[in-house]
Amino acid sequence: MTVTAQEYPTTSVPTEPVITPEAWYGADLAETGDWLYRISEAAQRELDSALRHVEALGLSAPDFGKADFPLPGFAAELDDIRGELEGGRGLVVMRGIDRARYSKKEAAFIFWGIGCHLGTAVPQNGEGHRLGHIRDLGFSFSDPSVRGYQTSAELSYHTDMCDVVFLLCLNQSKSGGRNQFVSAVSIHNEILDRRPDLLEVLYQPFYFDRRGELDEAGGKPYYAMPIFSYHDGMVSTRYLRHYIDSAQRIAEVPRLTSQQNEALDLLDEIAYRPGMFLGVEQEPGDFVLINNYPLWHLRTTFEDHEDLPRKRHLLRQWLSIPNSRGLPETFRGKFKNLEPGAVRHGIAVRPHPQPKPPPDAADLWEGLDAAPLSA
Ligand SMILES: [Fe+2]
Repeated sequence: MTVTAQEYPTTSVPTEPVITPEAWYGADLAETGDWLYRISEAAQRELDSALRHVEALGLSAPDFGKADFPLPGFAAELDDIRGELEGGRGLVVMRGIDRARYSKKEAAFIFWGIGCHLGTAVPQNGEGHRLGHIRDLGFSFSDPSVRGYQTSAELSYHTDMCDVVFLLCLNQSKSGGRNQFVSAVSIHNEILDRRPDLLEVLYQPFYFDRRGELDEAGGKPYYAMPIFSYHDGMVSTRYLRHYIDSAQRIAEVPRLTSQQNEALDLLDEIAYRPGMFLGVEQEPGDFVLINNYPLWHLRTTFEDHEDLPRKRHLLRQWLSIPNSRGLPETFRGKFKNLEPGAVRHGIAVRPHPQPKPPPDAADLWEGLDAAPLSA
């Protein structure tokens, strides 16, 4: 049995370009640099005393909250950053933490503490991890049960399934592993201008592979939603071509049409065009924040260091932010709650009869205590 696209909601296609602050071009951002936020001396001092406070309480990430990590002045700046994430460009890089001062574990605590002030960290996989490790675990991305963050493969342009993805770099790879960000709203507007017929196609549902993250036991191994939706004057998007292509392994998923493939190719052609995207080298201690509804991100393939303590290592939070946008019905199947400011995400946590230890967390935390962030 093949499912049909008519079962899934869509929104109307705007007839004019959608001009919002999140419709930017990478070349302009590279010139202004105003997405790069320098952590001030005063903010550093507050982060430092909040860290010492939480350590004195004997608490550990992810088991402390906002009240345990007081930021009397910096919290207001984080409010502004949240306003930049929803309602602004959708992208912020925070840089300038004193790397020599902290171990990787202390940096992880600071990362968690900042996240507590920005929003609510939600589960990012079926195991319910809210503080996730991005490491090459030696898995192959061609295995349909493997998620991209567990590999060294190139992760082509995509959105994560939350309001805001928040990353902290602990270690860089030997080479590669660069981040690229692009405004899907600008891509949308380019397609409206060049090929409005294909924009119509991208407003129709596409089938995505769930990659083993099922909504419930026995649930379908795929879901469907459009790549672009238009709601409240904003374009919101869900994209991950690798998972669209890998959903084709599932018999009941309709085959991609030549027109759909042409539309996907056009997305990529525009998204990789110089001037469209912003490339960012994430250094140890850099905090990156991306709104997933208007922006896409990618990571290039990387070559890693041989010895474990030096291997590329990022920490990740998926944040639900209190000033998030309302989402259209097209997001209901995956995100469930569409209300503005709702705590939501697109991953169902598997119930375990007994708490199951995270498959990767224990060994990845090991050694972070002693390792300096600057190494
Ligand atoms: Fe991602």
